[in-house]
Amino acid sequence: MNKDKPWGGRFTEATDAFVETFTASVGFDQRLYRHDILGSLAHAQMLAHVGVLTETERDAIAKGLKQIEAEIESGAFAWSVALEDVHMNIEARLIDRIGDAGKKLHTGRSRNDQVATDIRLYLRDGIDTVLAAIRRLQLAMLDVAEREADTVMPGFTHLQVAQPVTFGHHLLAWFEMLVRDAARFRDCRGRVNVLPLGSAALAGTSFPVDRAYTAKLLGFETVAENSIDAVSDRDFAIEFAAAAALLMTHLSRMSEELILWSTSQFAFVELSDAFCTGSSIMPQKKNPDVPELVRGKSGRVTGNLVALLTLMKAQPLAYNKDNQEDKEPLFDTLDTVLGCLRVYTDMLPAMQVRRERLSQAAAAGFSTATDLADYLVRKGVAFRDAHEVVGRAVRLAIESRRDLAAIPLNELQQFSPQIGADVYAVLTPEGSVQARNHVGGTAPAQVRAAIHRARERLASKPQ
Ligand code: ARG
Repeated sequence: MNKDKPWGGRFTEATDAFVETFTASVGFDQRLYRHDILGSLAHAQMLAHVGVLTETERDAIAKGLKQIEAEIESGAFAWSVALEDVHMNIEARLIDRIGDAGKKLHTGRSRNDQVATDIRLYLRDGIDTVLAAIRRLQLAMLDVAEREADTVMPGFTHLQVAQPVTFGHHLLAWFEMLVRDAARFRDCRGRVNVLPLGSAALAGTSFPVDRAYTAKLLGFETVAENSIDAVSDRDFAIEFAAAAALLMTHLSRMSEELILWSTSQFAFVELSDAFCTGSSIMPQKKNPDVPELVRGKSGRVTGNLVALLTLMKAQPLAYNKDNQEDKEPLFDTLDTVLGCLRVYTDMLPAMQVRRERLSQAAAAGFSTATDLADYLVRKGVAFRDAHEVVGRAVRLAIESRRDLAAIPLNELQQFSPQIGADVYAVLTPEGSVQARNHVGGTAPAQVRAAIHRARERLASKPQ
């Protein structure tokens, strides 16, 4: 006791207690309990298989672990900070319950390969859940795209009206982003699905472990080749976070569009009341909170990715306690992604698409100027000359405050004698989208064909 110092005794005491909580992870890693128990069951089974445990010991361990699982699920399990993490909490409770056999479970294993195994099992399930959630959102998008395959709207570049497109085609652009997101998660899953157990602390174990046997029990595709690498690297978790950050970036871009489209200036869509909230002071307000929150949450997922990259970056081989910090960003990433996907899946089909308003907007802003140029090319004018001619026609339209389609034929013919009465068909947004009739184009028939192919692509994917 530092009685000389007014703060001494207290400080030492407080520091010890604080370090205990400071180094503990049980507050958050208890979420791994199911996967921790799964890993332990397989490990015990393997130890019995190679003769390190007796069958009686194995059975006692299995029974004890299953009881502990039930105890945790019922909420009766007393988690202890003094026991630091989920692994030691469960192991201590096992010894409590079954005695000596429990003390043998950790033979040939370290918390280092144990935790790496737990996270891989957990993430594998997490990825499967995310893939199923992406698929549900994709199916919702296809339904809306089908409903709006004929709906014309302005397409934008630089957020300036560019050319007419169909609403269905725009939604299929969103769909494609998700196709690649799902592919990234699937690809990452292959590298997650590798067994670390058997690596022990870092050098492997002196017991005759059968790693392939454990891998098979746990559904891992392969065993990690190198024990030092297996307990240390979390690159698979970083990949997961990167795939999630990209997915969230896509959802954030969609959100930005929905927010813009919901303004009275655009008025392209109206989100259902169920996905908006009001203002406590302005009675007229209906705010697009859900897309705004999704856009905001993309920030935390990108933050989680950066946290994980930074966490890994300076670590020497092999395991370091730094890695304990991988869990919260991972859990948060998974929760955030699943929440956003879910809310989008419900929100999109409930959104009202304001077709009349979209069609008016599609006709404005000289969106069919390119169609006029293409028309002249078909009449034998070189594209660069046609571009120039249409530019001058647009100038006249701007100066006289008319749309291109409102300029009479004789006036249009001043710019090029090749312009005939049939020009007005190409100056409508409907004509413009119909004309883009090729794979990947915006014509309603192409959108329907693309939706058909999209459904087939989804059906052919295992997940
Ligand atoms: N709670 C630790 C983690 O999350 C488990 C592994 C600890 N291993 C050790 N040797 N301290 O990483």
